[in-house]
Amino acid sequence: MDYTKKMLRDDALKGKTIVVTGGGSGLGKAMTAYFLELGANVVITSRNIEKLQAVKTELESQTGGKVLAVQCDVRNYDEVEAMVNASVEAFGKVDVLLNNAAGNFISPTERLSANAFDTIIDIVLKGTKNCTLAFGKYWIKNKETEKVVLNIVTTYAWTGSAYVVPSATAKAGVLAMTRSLAVEWAKYGMRFNAIAPGPFPTKGAWDRLLPGDLKEKFDLAKKVPLKRVGEHQELANLAAYLVSDFSSYVNGEVITIDGGEWLKGAGQMNLLEEVPKEMWDMLEMMIRAKKND
Ligand code: HXC
Ligand code: NAP
Repeated sequence: MDYTKKMLRDDALKGKTIVVTGGGSGLGKAMTAYFLELGANVVITSRNIEKLQAVKTELESQTGGKVLAVQCDVRNYDEVEAMVNASVEAFGKVDVLLNNAAGNFISPTERLSANAFDTIIDIVLKGTKNCTLAFGKYWIKNKETEKVVLNIVTTYAWTGSAYVVPSATAKAGVLAMTRSLAVEWAKYGMRFNAIAPGPFPTKGAWDRLLPGDLKEKFDLAKKVPLKRVGEHQELANLAAYLVSDFSSYVNGEVITIDGGEWLKGAGQMNLLEEVPKEMWDMLEMMIRAKKND
């Protein structure tokens, strides 16, 4: 089985318009490319319009799809409202909001200034809130239904994680928002789901989470029971399914795609993975010998 293959049929997203925040790099770009191949129009947004224009040119010629690039800092509600209007003006409607934009870096929490902590909360939690609120209000006001919001979180949204505390705090908030609105706004014809990716190498994340020789020191693949990191197409396959009509009955769910990484860290006796096979006869004998003690 080739897990880098494309999963859905060619017209799976035909006629849909999808907004991908942070769509000009990393996982956002990979998902955008696949959505275009499946027939969607995609609006890519971030702070850097030159980067977005270059990606628009690249992906349009690669896929034959249509991309609108819009400069928009998700921290600013006015810019988000302008982005909603620009998207609707270009494509007539928007069907899917994919909250993918994020900011993050490793740091002992006591080294963070108040502004450093706020910056991450503002991009991740306030940014997701701004986009969700702006599109939600628009869809409700115009009585548009069959809409999907997909949020990218991480597994430490529920486990927490040292050294990325603002990101963990913000992603936990995004997950709570996902589950809350899945119930409250279902009556308006919206579905809310989240994806929690494990390690999927991207420049943006690796430069900030594994700077310098940390990349060599900490081989993230070793933390994963499946012993490898994720392929971007695997994530794009899952995202395409969750924004498509094929997932119409999936609502309020967070789907983890991490090769079993977080569970390996969680299970109390999982460290027994380190015990060599040939030791198990001896261990079993020792345990059985205790029966009549
Ligand atoms: C301590 C830092 C810092 C660092 C910035 N700051 N970097 N503090 N250690 N390494 C402080 C600054 O001094 C400032 O505080 C405040 O943070 C804001 O910094 P700016 O540079 O002014 O912010 P801005 O230009 O808005 O840039 C935001 C950013 C930057 C988050 C700092 O890295 C960025 O643009 N990131 C976007 C892309 C990204 O982060 N991608 C990774 C996503 S990975 P003061 O007090 O001095 O004003 C991800 C993976 C999840 O989320 C899970 C993986 C397993
Ligand atoms: P990335 O390439 O750095 O993506 C982050 C994107 O967010 C960039 O395109 C950036 O564009 C945009 N962005 C940052 N601040 C913004 C702002 N204020 N307004 C608008 N856009 C902003 O990193 P990535 O690895 O692909 O991450 C994508 C998503 O996956 C994030 O939600 C991340 O938390 C999540 N994730 C990644 C991994 C992984 O292993 N890679 C694991 C778990 C979760 P500009 O700089 O141009 O604004």
